[in-house]
Amino acid sequence: MAEKYSVPRGTFDILPADSYKWQYVKKVFSEVAAQFNFQEIVTPIFEQTDVFERSVGGSSDIVQKEMYRFQDKKGRNFALRPEGTAPVVRSFVENNLGMTGGNTKLFYLGPMFRYDRPQKGRYRQFYQYGIENIGSDNPFIDAEIIAFGYAFLSKLGLKNFELEINSIGCSNCSKDYNQALVEYFTPNLDKMCSDCNERINKNPKRLLDCKVPSCKEIAKDAPNMLEYLDEDCRTHFAQVQEYLNLMNIPFKVNPRIVRGLDYYNKTAFEFLDNNLGAQNALIGGGRYNGLVEQFGGKDTPGIGFAGGFERLLLSMETEGVSFGEEPKPNVFIVAIGEKAKQLTAKLLFDLRTNGIKAEYNPDKESLKAQMKAADKEKTRFTLILGEDEIAKNSIILKEMISGEQQEIPREKLVTFLQDKLR
Ligand code: HAM
Repeated sequence: MAEKYSVPRGTFDILPADSYKWQYVKKVFSEVAAQFNFQEIVTPIFEQTDVFERSVGGSSDIVQKEMYRFQDKKGRNFALRPEGTAPVVRSFVENNLGMTGGNTKLFYLGPMFRYDRPQKGRYRQFYQYGIENIGSDNPFIDAEIIAFGYAFLSKLGLKNFELEINSIGCSNCSKDYNQALVEYFTPNLDKMCSDCNERINKNPKRLLDCKVPSCKEIAKDAPNMLEYLDEDCRTHFAQVQEYLNLMNIPFKVNPRIVRGLDYYNKTAFEFLDNNLGAQNALIGGGRYNGLVEQFGGKDTPGIGFAGGFERLLLSMETEGVSFGEEPKPNVFIVAIGEKAKQLTAKLLFDLRTNGIKAEYNPDKESLKAQMKAADKEKTRFTLILGEDEIAKNSIILKEMISGEQQEIPREKLVTFLQDKLR
């Protein structure tokens, strides 16, 4: 017996019944990108492992546990991309995209890969939409990036999401803060998980967002980052909030947001849908001043975000918002007899190439079987072509909802339907 295969754990097929929903959210995302003047960038789905190790960082779960690593035939080390920011910055430096100065505004769409425990809203291959603005440290840009996320989710019709923002400071303010965290957590380490014990020296801020209940309990009284911000970071964060207020974008300051990737500094933010359960982050993002330099470019600040399409679709389904029109033909042709079938070949082609979505099933012979097939397609119109109509050079057009029928000269059919469908 032939072996039956299934998709790898943590991955899924996007089937025809759902693919139009994906097309819809991608289309809306591209529209918002155009409104905000972002251009698409497409990078490979694998990169040298170093691209991620150096940027996403050694203390992140992504690099420590979740990368799909492989060697090619020449023994070079690669990884399937776990995220999009590092590849975009690699490309920005490699292709000198910042050459003319100003802001380089990029968006991307595509699959990312993380070897994590699959659960609702978390997969091993997932699809991200993301944007990056490389070139400015102006808080105006932070607010613009956040506004993009807000505009996108709103345009999809979502209402139940919340925006949380924070400043995680720069390397200057992090020194004192990290010290304060180490002093606070050290006496409690024996009650905390092994990840926290390991991270305390590499990146103590990560102890703030540990999901283990006992760690959470201890972290709840930890020192607050916002009290450690230096003058520059404090002003920057205040200005980001001011711009968001000017745009009437509601937000909450949450000093617990640290983000799990090492390249972040200053502004960090998340859009959450608390109806989603544990995997509630629709969008995550933040500033990464210093990353371009780390990739060998000129010191250039940057900020961006990314979100997973799977969670977005779950949110949209839960809130019952529309995915646009389900794709279906406008007309279905019912042809009785061999001559009618031959005429249908040309008729179908003419309709389709004139922008009318048309369908016909050559395997069904009888009027009854064909009408049944037409009903199943749920088209707005059925066209019926029998001997009488052939003789008269006409065709019968039936409106499926009202049941109304009329006879139309065949040479007028295309324009008639184009008018009706407009
Ligand atoms: P991230 O927080 O790791 O950030 O991921 C961003 C979003 O991708 C998450 O909020 C979530 O919606 C989605 N996501 C992440 N992992 C999974 C998964 N295993 N399954 C399904 N969805 C997932 C980044 O990736 C940064 N590169 C974002 C960024 C861009 N920061 C600045 N620019």
